[in-house]
Amino acid sequence: MQDLAKADLERFIAGLPKAELHMHIEGSLEPELMFALAKRNSIDLPYASVEELRKAYAFSRLQDFLDIYYQGAQVLLTVADFHDLGMAYFKRLAADGGRHAEIFFDPQTHTDRGLPFSVAIDGLLSAMGEAEATLGVTSKLILCFLRHLDEDAAFETLEQARPYLHRIAGVGLDSSELGHPPSKFAQVFEAAANLGLCRVAHAGEEGPPAYVWEALDVLNVDRIDHGNRSLEDPRLVKRLAAEQMTLTVCPLSNLKLCVVDDMTAHPLKSMLDLGLKATINSDDPAYFGGYLNDNWIAAARGVGLDRDELLTLARNSFTGSFLKPEEQAPHLAAIDAYAAGFTAH
Ligand code: ADE
Ligand code: ZN
Repeated sequence: MQDLAKADLERFIAGLPKAELHMHIEGSLEPELMFALAKRNSIDLPYASVEELRKAYAFSRLQDFLDIYYQGAQVLLTVADFHDLGMAYFKRLAADGGRHAEIFFDPQTHTDRGLPFSVAIDGLLSAMGEAEATLGVTSKLILCFLRHLDEDAAFETLEQARPYLHRIAGVGLDSSELGHPPSKFAQVFEAAANLGLCRVAHAGEEGPPAYVWEALDVLNVDRIDHGNRSLEDPRLVKRLAAEQMTLTVCPLSNLKLCVVDDMTAHPLKSMLDLGLKATINSDDPAYFGGYLNDNWIAAARGVGLDRDELLTLARNSFTGSFLKPEEQAPHLAAIDAYAAGFTAH
């Protein structure tokens, strides 16, 4: 165990090879790009300026954010828009030492306003190809079902995704958690499993531990997105630790959405102390005040993470990914080499 001096912490995090496993691409739409796309597509925004829009990013719970997030996504109309959105994110990720990302997208947010299913995914796949070729960043795509809609709508979306299934790593479950338990989507998740897709679900962000149990037992998920409230249930903690279930934790999101009152009260360190397999992620970086490294730094400072804990989190980000073990191996070796070569000032 070795504490990093304050000045070394940021430098250590900046160079650490890492992956991001919980990031909604629509949540990476920066106000500047939103205004540029609104102009390109002749759409009127209900805000006069980037500054005015940013001022509206004051949330006291998940739903406050979702309302503004779905409104913002309306400027995305063309394949080129989704490509530009994707590339803007991948550039930020690469600058943060990100080597791999498993990104969420919400097709229903776009098909429900009349866009063909192909528009968002074609643009994102094109950005993913460009990011790998030009930045060396690999990525996978996770199709999220909106849980405030019904299961039939989720099935319709899965049907629309059929021609793209070879390019989709898995399905996820996002949007308003309270009142929409994972069990509402039991059948569509079973259908996704039968199609060979991986499964993740937001659970325990605002919802109770019972939702995390359902995600595990009913949806058979491979990862839990957030999972904070799992800590309220010692039996659940034991299960998550025993299974080494990956939790994709999002520190700045938790702060912005008032899931935690203060970063010093964030459960990330407790999760590690309890033997849980936590990772650090940005969730919706354009709305929550920071990209991947901002989350790492805020969490490390807030709860006091040491060098070994940071290395564990970096390893977890790859071993918790949907990369094959042989694809994870070079990243894990790069983390070891980085740790061995890092000298504190
Ligand atoms: N959609 C985008 N971000 C989300 C979050 N943090 N929780 C649920 N749904 C989301
Ligand atoms: Zn999320």
